[in-house]
Amino acid sequence: MVDRDPSREDATRCLATAVVATGAATADLGAARRGPDRDAAMRIDPSELGAERIYRLMTGIVVPRPIAWVTSLSAKGVVNLAPFSAFTFVSQKPPMLAVSIGRKAGVYKDTAHNILDTEEYVIHIADTPLMSALHESSVEHPPDVSEVELLKLEVRPSEHIKVPRLAAPPVAMECRFRQCLEFGEARSRLIVGEVVMFHIRDDLVNNGKIETEALDPIARIGGPRYARLGEIVTLRTVFQTPKSPD
Ligand SMILES: Cc1cc2nc3c(=O)[nH]c(=O)nc-3n(C[C@H](O)[C@H](O)[C@H](O)COP(=O)(O)O)c2cc1C
Repeated sequence: MVDRDPSREDATRCLATAVVATGAATADLGAARRGPDRDAAMRIDPSELGAERIYRLMTGIVVPRPIAWVTSLSAKGVVNLAPFSAFTFVSQKPPMLAVSIGRKAGVYKDTAHNILDTEEYVIHIADTPLMSALHESSVEHPPDVSEVELLKLEVRPSEHIKVPRLAAPPVAMECRFRQCLEFGEARSRLIVGEVVMFHIRDDLVNNGKIETEALDPIARIGGPRYARLGEIVTLRTVFQTPKSPD
C-alpha cells in the first residue's frame, strides 16, 4: 500500500516513542517471543503511528486472511482481476460478502471503480495451484490492461451478471453491489455485495457442507507471504441456537 501520510518521515521516531516497555527488556520483541514471560508486552499507541506502520501491524495481527480474487468489468469492457484479503462474509440470507479496497497514490483501485460503475463482480476462492497467478494479478496495471488476458486465464460467462468468471478456481461467486462504506483518513472502501450465484466444484460439496481439505484454499499473511491449511482439529460440538426457525 502506498503511504501518502505526510507524517511518514516521523514514523520511525513515532514507533520508538509509542512503544513503552512494561517489563525488563520488553522492548526486545524477539526476547519476548522466545521467553516464557507472557506478561511482557509492548504497548503501541496507534494515534502516534503513520498509516504504513499501522497497516504492517494489522496485516501481521489479522492472520491468516482468506483472499477474495475479484473479476470486474471496466466501463470500456476490460476484464480486471485483483486479490483482496480484507475479506469476510457479513450476512447469510441473502449471502453477502465484504471486501475492503484501499487507494493507490490517493486514487481508488480499478476494482473499486469498476464495482461502483457496473454494480457487478465475481469473487473467486483460489486453491494452491493458483497461488502464483493470484499473486501476479496484484501487479499494478493501467485500467485498460486486463490481468486476465496478461495471465492467460480462461474465463466463462456468468449466469446473472455480465462480468465473466475465471474457469480455474474451485469457487466463483457472482455478486451484485449492495453497499459501500468509507473508513478512516485513507477512506478505504468497504464494498458489500450480495452473492446471486455460487459456482462450486462438484467434489467440494458433501451433504451441503464444503470439504475444506479438498478446497485447499490459500490465505494471505503479508507482502508476498501466503499460507496453506495446516492440521484441522475437531473438538466437541457446542450447541448453537439455530439462526432462524426454518
Ligand atoms: C494476496 C493479496 C491481498 C491483497 N489484499 C488487498 C486488500 O484487501 N485491499 C486492498 O486495497 N489491496 C489489497 N491488495 C493489493 C491489490 O491487489 C493491488 O493493489 C492491485 O493492484 C489492485 O488492482 P486493481 O487496481 O486492478 O483493482 C492485495 C494484494 C495481494 C497480493
